[in-house]
Amino acid sequence: MNSSRPNNKKIVIAVDGFSSCGKSTFAKMVAAHLGYIFIDTGAMYRAVTLWAIENGCVENGILNEERLIKGLDVIQIDFRFNPDRGASDIYLCGEWAEGKIRTITVSNLVSAVSAIGEVRRRLVKLQQAMGRDKGVVMDGRDIGTVVFPDAELKIFMTADPEVRAERRYQELLAKGEEVSREEIIENIRQRDHLDQTRAISPLRKADDAIVLDNGGMTLAEEMEWFDEIFKLRVKE
Ligand code: DC
Repeated sequence: MNSSRPNNKKIVIAVDGFSSCGKSTFAKMVAAHLGYIFIDTGAMYRAVTLWAIENGCVENGILNEERLIKGLDVIQIDFRFNPDRGASDIYLCGEWAEGKIRTITVSNLVSAVSAIGEVRRRLVKLQQAMGRDKGVVMDGRDIGTVVFPDAELKIFMTADPEVRAERRYQELLAKGEEVSREEIIENIRQRDHLDQTRAISPLRKADDAIVLDNGGMTLAEEMEWFDEIFKLRVKE
């Protein structure tokens, strides 16, 4: 891979798109390539969801929004670099939460949590503070539209739902979670629908975002694509 950098001026790179498109893997690689900080905003919504589950805001699989909103002041989220992973791990109220936020239980509730205006308002503020000094690659659903509408480079990722479901299935299988392919594809379809139709900050491509459909692409090909785009779009 050619590590050309047209200039040294740091920018904000927004990576938005559908669930399980490999946004985080791509964004993490781009960040490492440029020496930027990678911020996974989905992990932040997942951490709030985990807090809700662990603090009595979910009964019989149903989220009690009011209770969660009342608890928002005590939720603390931060990222700390983990050299073993070459990326930052998320901490919830000071405790390592990286291992607990990607279960199917969290995935099934996270869309409901991320549809709450007060949750979004707080997390968006935190994300804007994290990207204030630029030099960040931030992945999510509303980065190019709401969090950083002036981001210098916006990428919108997509891939066929079956391809995405298979990737997530293999990931969970490798972690030893007992889930079926059907359960995962259903979760992905549901999240696509909820993410696109929620009233506040729905998932949509920013007008000036470049689409990356990575369905048939290897990671190396994705990075070659990025290099080209970076050279073309981010000029001196
Ligand atoms: O990227 P992910 O699948 O880990 O994200 C988890 C959920 O969080 C996803 O279903 C939508 C929500 N999300 C969001 O609403 N806005 C973001 N910027 C990032 C994630």
